[in-house]
Amino acid sequence: MSGDEVDHGKRRFLVAATTLVGGVGTAFALVPFVSSMQPSAKARAAGAPVRVDFSKLEPGQKLTVEWRGKPVWIVNRTEEMLGTLETLDPVLADPKSAISEQPDYITSEDRSIKPELLVMVGICTHLGCSPTFRPDIAPADLGPDWLGGFFCPCHGSKFDLSGRVYARMPAPKNLPIPPYRFLSETELVVGEDPKETA
Ligand code: FES
Repeated sequence: MSGDEVDHGKRRFLVAATTLVGGVGTAFALVPFVSSMQPSAKARAAGAPVRVDFSKLEPGQKLTVEWRGKPVWIVNRTEEMLGTLETLDPVLADPKSAISEQPDYITSEDRSIKPELLVMVGICTHLGCSPTFRPDIAPADLGPDWLGGFFCPCHGSKFDLSGRVYARMPAPKNLPIPPYRFLSETELVVGEDPKETA
């Protein structure tokens, strides 16, 4: 499955959100005790943490979950993807994320706790559209210098594979990183810091 197949804007996001709810419903039926600890739909909308099983996320793929009514992306980044990041600093508006929204335990240019796994809010910092995932290298519409990233079709803002915005774009800041922590090798929770306990 390519990135394009799992990201085509709002419609895809709604499908993914529906799928997530369906998955939770299944967990309710099979594991009643665990289900009793899952937040209700109302609590999720109000900001409850969201648990994500990313065990089936292949390298290069992105999945979308909903947290506080926003799409949150989990991207499984390959070595090649990570290798593009440091080369882009000179063409980015805020390469060190000095003015961008992210937890203080996110400090590196890969903007993650585990470099291979990017967790990011998929809302453009310009006027709030949801950018598309464009991991393809040098596509015709984005030009020969494009190394993969996120593209906002509303007004053309470009972001790298860490969500860092290119210079001279309508978007003023990098895409936000939410608080999150890992529960295991295959599960994380969005909306809680690493120091918090379940
Ligand atoms: S909303 Fe993304 S560029 Fe304007």
